[in-house]
Amino acid sequence: MSGGPAITLKSQPIDGNNGNSGNAAAQQQQTANNAAAAASSSSSSQASSGTVPPAQEGTRQSSLQRIQLRKQKVFNLPEAQKLAKLSMYSACQFEGCRCTGWKTPQENRHRDVESSYCPEPTEECRNASCRHPLRSHISHLTEISRSSMDELLGAIIDMENLFMSMQRVEDEDTKKVYLYLFRLLRQCVLTRQQAVIRGPLGDPPFESPCITKAVLSLVFYKYNHLNPTELQTMTEVAKTFLNFLNHYNFESPSARRGDPTLTHEDASTYKINYTRWLVFCHVPAFCNSLRQFETSLVFGRTLLRTVFQYMSQQLKKKCISERDRFPEDKRSIITQMPKFLEALRAELLKDDSPIWDSTYRPPNSFVVQQRKRHQEVAPPATISSAGAAAPSGSKRSSVGEPAHKRVKKEVAERVTSENQDDLPIEVVMRAMKSVAESKTSNKSEILFPINVSRDENVKAEEQKRAIEFHVVGNSLTKPVDKQTILWLLGLQLVFAYQLPEMPREYISQLVFDTKHKTLALIKENQPIGGICFRPFPTQGFTEIVFCAVTMAEQVKGYGTHLMNHLKDYSIQRGIKHLLTFADCDAIGYFKKQGFSKDIKLARPVYAGYIKEYDSATLMHCELHPSIVNTQFIAVIRNQSEILKELIAQRHNEVQKVRTGLTCFKEGLPSIPVESIPGLREIGWKPQMRPVRASRPLEESTDPEKLATQFASVLQSVRQHTAAWPFLRPVTAAEVPDYYDHIKYPMDLKTMGERLKKGYYQTRRLFMADMARIFSNCRFYNSPETEYYRCANSLERYFQTKMRELGLWDK
Ligand code: ACO
Repeated sequence: MSGGPAITLKSQPIDGNNGNSGNAAAQQQQTANNAAAAASSSSSSQASSGTVPPAQEGTRQSSLQRIQLRKQKVFNLPEAQKLAKLSMYSACQFEGCRCTGWKTPQENRHRDVESSYCPEPTEECRNASCRHPLRSHISHLTEISRSSMDELLGAIIDMENLFMSMQRVEDEDTKKVYLYLFRLLRQCVLTRQQAVIRGPLGDPPFESPCITKAVLSLVFYKYNHLNPTELQTMTEVAKTFLNFLNHYNFESPSARRGDPTLTHEDASTYKINYTRWLVFCHVPAFCNSLRQFETSLVFGRTLLRTVFQYMSQQLKKKCISERDRFPEDKRSIITQMPKFLEALRAELLKDDSPIWDSTYRPPNSFVVQQRKRHQEVAPPATISSAGAAAPSGSKRSSVGEPAHKRVKKEVAERVTSENQDDLPIEVVMRAMKSVAESKTSNKSEILFPINVSRDENVKAEEQKRAIEFHVVGNSLTKPVDKQTILWLLGLQLVFAYQLPEMPREYISQLVFDTKHKTLALIKENQPIGGICFRPFPTQGFTEIVFCAVTMAEQVKGYGTHLMNHLKDYSIQRGIKHLLTFADCDAIGYFKKQGFSKDIKLARPVYAGYIKEYDSATLMHCELHPSIVNTQFIAVIRNQSEILKELIAQRHNEVQKVRTGLTCFKEGLPSIPVESIPGLREIGWKPQMRPVRASRPLEESTDPEKLATQFASVLQSVRQHTAAWPFLRPVTAAEVPDYYDHIKYPMDLKTMGERLKKGYYQTRRLFMADMARIFSNCRFYNSPETEYYRCANSLERYFQTKMRELGLWDK
């Protein structure tokens, strides 16, 4: 594992340090040529201007500063010079010309475009197939705003840095990723679109719960009983850990080959996660034209498991080596770290740990408290994996970030905070307050509650001690009190009356059997219902033998509350499953209590233990350790009231009338949709696609008609001359490492099969599979290959065919 002192890639930092090594490779391809040239230009110009230190292995922070300085310098250039730089990555607008970037007439002059040299608009491109003046490469750019121009220049610098990093990195997997991102940025600069990563890697977040959420849950789960100061310390320890992880430098999969801690399956999962980390977390930290995600917010248990051992060792070592740098009042973070890591390790290994359960959630009060503490206390010193104690808030520099990046960051922050808490806590708190107030203000409802569930009434009776629940049983080793015996006798009668098919002796035998217990519902000191059960702790389940409520008390909610008590009782004793043979008439009741005929336990777990009955149905209920069943209905009810209140609040916002837009009167030709006031507030998101007015919702289109149209498109696509690489699935025998890189393969044969099975119910599904064929191909193969060309050509043909049938949006 790497993750050593410097936060740089193992072989080469993406840091703005440039050499000349790009030039040789640059001759091989047009795009690379421009990049290498421009990259080396920056090197010389930096060195000559003296604004940037000479190339050397630097820390993450200094790398970021160098990149930012260089960008700022380019942003401050006169416009003519900026355009000259842009021209090197802009397609010639001369009709029929295919040149993708202007080249300086003298081979090495491009180096100076970032310092002194400013070519004339009339100077001719050195590219023999172009020879058009610089002007023809920028004619389409002269009208763009300053900020758009700076965005493009920022992306160009990112691209150049990527190219240089790619030249130096030794690891083939990493190199491939750099190349992919380089091409992506190159394409974005050419087309003036924002970089969006699509493809077989999937979209972040990749796992739920994310590491941040699980670590917060761990603090609650393990340390909530501590006093506030100790709890505060553990929270800071957890944050220090997350900070370390977010700056951790993961080792390439090839360097981990032979690592005994990784199974074969782990190794291939690690490879995918490593690629995701590079693409979404690590590279964008340096290339701010790409959207960046925090490692701890997009990855979960799978990634942490594969890196934890080595990473925690490193963190412990750092704690020791940096102990003296920590202010005295923060030393407890260092001393508590091993304990915290040990607890986290244990939860990582446990398959049923609640902290890794996506539904587990510390109570809101805890989350709010933690936030308050976080705001009140000055940020703790944290150990970054860069090796130095850094203030936790320092993270990455955002000085001079392009506007689009800031927007993207805001979106990213919104997405990640949405990922943790669906709505800002203040909004939820406001809704909760309003629900509570409406309850207290509506006095008549308190006296005569309308629409209150039976469960609430039973709970109210229980609170008033009008009814009681007791687990009772016979014993041969301990004295059994008279009251218990009387209740057992009463229960025996209840069961005998309500289950007339059961022989009385059999009921007596089991009710008084010492291995069986009965949960008794007592009213006025008489049993009015009960559940007789037998726990099998070694098997992890409890068998429900009899369950009944006296006739006069049925359908009042007692049966439900009895079952909820039994569930809580079982959970407290580590039992996670209830099994019963339900009478035909009682199946409906058991279904309502969460039982199902679908038995999730393997038969050997219960066969031979549970008593089997003819003409009864085996039913199973899985218990969730973090649910308090006796509170569950009330919680759900409360939540639904809060939801209703939130919907009402949102409704009020949507109804808000805003002043109209004045920007068009002021001469603006267009504005981004997202800048229209109120649109985001009602939930509009940039990625939402408009529904075309000319066609009804595709979901409502006749599926049979769609299927016929898809069949005809598929047939035409199959017969195209460029279709041959995609006709059937790629086999591992043909391309051994294909499935290491491509997680979601697709081909025309599979699409045909899916079409026959009726999978393509919507146009979107059909298009997504076809798009996957092309994106997989372009991800795996490089542009100079025949495969890549086939993908491009077939994709164009596919779009034409779809357009012919009116199935294409644009
Ligand atoms: N079939 C379908 N639904 C039922 C049945 C039934 N036999 N019994 C109750 N329910 C429903 C209720 O209508 C209610 O639904 P709702 O909340 O949507 O209105 C829900 O189940 C729970 O009702 P409760 O009032 O909480 O249950 P109750 O106190 O009536 O107790 C019980 C249910 C124990 C099944 C009771 O009706 C009874 O004693 N029945 C006779 C004995 C019996 O059949 N026991 C089960 C035999 S199987 C065995 O013991 C393993």
